Amino acid sequence: MYSYYPEELIEEIRINNDIVDVVSEYVKLEKKGKDYFGLCPFHKEKTPSFSVVATKQIYYCFGCSKGGNVIHFIMNVENLDYVEAVKYLADRARMELPEGESKEEKEKAELRKEIIKINIEAARFFRDQLYSEQNRNVVTYLKNRKISEQMIRKFGIGYSPHDWDLLYKHLTGMGFRNEVILKSGLAQPAKNGGYCDRFRSRVIFPIFDIRGNVIGFGGRVMDDSMPKYMNSPETPVYNKGRNLYAMNFAKHSGVKNILIVEGYMDVITLHQAGITNSVASLGTALTESQGRLLKKYAEEIIISYDSDTAGQAAAMRGLDLLNEIGCNVKVLVIPDGKDPDEFIKKNGAEAFRSLIHKSITLVEYKIKVLKKQINTETIEGKIKLLNNAASVLAKVDNVVEREMYIRKIANEYEITEEALLAEVYKKIKPKSNFKSKGQDISNIGKIKQKDGNFDSELVQYERRLLAILCFDNSVYKAVKNKINVQDFTLEENKKIAEYVVERLSNNKGIVPGELLNILDEDYAKEFTRIIQEECNFEDNIKAILDIIKKIELFKIDKRQKEILKLLGHHEGLTGGDVENLKQELQMLLIKKKGL
Ligand code: CTP
Ligand code: MN
Repeated sequence: MYSYYPEELIEEIRINNDIVDVVSEYVKLEKKGKDYFGLCPFHKEKTPSFSVVATKQIYYCFGCSKGGNVIHFIMNVENLDYVEAVKYLADRARMELPEGESKEEKEKAELRKEIIKINIEAARFFRDQLYSEQNRNVVTYLKNRKISEQMIRKFGIGYSPHDWDLLYKHLTGMGFRNEVILKSGLAQPAKNGGYCDRFRSRVIFPIFDIRGNVIGFGGRVMDDSMPKYMNSPETPVYNKGRNLYAMNFAKHSGVKNILIVEGYMDVITLHQAGITNSVASLGTALTESQGRLLKKYAEEIIISYDSDTAGQAAAMRGLDLLNEIGCNVKVLVIPDGKDPDEFIKKNGAEAFRSLIHKSITLVEYKIKVLKKQINTETIEGKIKLLNNAASVLAKVDNVVEREMYIRKIANEYEITEEALLAEVYKKIKPKSNFKSKGQDISNIGKIKQKDGNFDSELVQYERRLLAILCFDNSVYKAVKNKINVQDFTLEENKKIAEYVVERLSNNKGIVPGELLNILDEDYAKEFTRIIQEECNFEDNIKAILDIIKKIELFKIDKRQKEILKLLGHHEGLTGGDVENLKQELQMLLIKKKGL
């Protein structure tokens, strides 16, 4: 389905997006010496450890060791896959991409673009309605709900008028095609012919995707009529399960955790209170796709759903799912069944902040729920609770953590730790070999980082050598006679060497940012780390000669050891073999001296 762009095109796109310019759109950079520094967008920090090197066209954070070229930066900061990031940058550089896609794909892309245009226009229309004289009651409603003018603007809140088809007419008047307006979900065929607007007499909340495109809308009535909320249907641009409301804002909060709440109003109130690391799942159970999105941006996820039973069940499913995909999850419990919006309006932002600090782990939360559901006054109740608690604890992978909970619960219910432990072990299932389902298409055909049973020291020297060649092309002249592509130990290093040497031997330059195009994401990160952390030499020629010497020494030592081992127990060796080995040993010694 995906089209792969030729390497030269990707390189052209990369060249047309200077990394300093691109990063500057997200991070305030300051020049220090040759390099730029700023606060890392990928982890929380107060002093800058995030570097951008113009001459190498790479970024690297000395704090969290994220790094790569401009494409990796966009992938990470915009949560895009490789192909999407390339498209994004092509777009930024106003470059045309070849028609790699099928006609059908192209039509879909066109349709999506047009629907987004319609949505933007609709959002404008709704916003303008908010400020018209006859809709003053809407502004009053928002005022009563204590939403500030600033939040109205930030979230693009608007109003859909009472009229039958005012928006529909407005959109047709602007020249949008009827069929596309229908596909946007903003209008629908009316029973008695003609078309009517989906949203009427509702406060409108535009829904943004992670890049800030308007992809759909939610509308709330201002009285008690039903349904309270109405949302855009699934459209070519809106997929409820793949989006999180306010993620476009939360991703910039720079905080290591993200708070998930249920509703529009909750998020808006939280952002108004300065808690900008909050998003909403808009009243549905969390999906795996939302989980992955969260994981990309947060080290820890705090879920705060209504403590009514429906909210609780949804929270539980969400927690399990997040836990399964490897997120660090906690639960924030709001006393007296309030939602975050109501709680903050009543008790203030500080009180809510302290609830955030008091949020509890998944296991603690599950046991808390069990305690609420089961009456432990009776013996049966107590057994039931311990049984259920054992099931919860059996799912805890970390042994230390598990034992801590066991101790706590055993203590509380006055049973022995051994008895509870035995129950838990009965329920622990043998682990299946979990393999992730989808293959990451961005790395197909790219050079992967391999570690393991290799001479890791040697591999590391080789990588450093390649790194130096790559960021200081001038050293090549001095070492070209000493470099043989076939000598590199790892297949991966060999391929990089081939690429770099081919370039340099033909008098063409290369920068690290370009080399990273051909590496998979993890290897690109590691290669960037080596460049930034291990290659700060005063004299690159001296450094590379030194590394070459170390590599030769390493190989000589290794062979020496092999020979000595062979000679040590020489069963199976002929006299001639022994003689040859001794001669080789002699040669190695001479070679070593000559280094
Ligand atoms: N929701 C929905 N349709 C409904 C009810 C709820 O889509 N009929 C979604 C909305 O996204 C809503 C969220 O579920 O924001 C949470 O629902 P609820 O707690 O009822 O709404 P609040 O966000 O608290 O809204 P308000 O405070 O304005 O009542
Ligand atoms: Mn509410």
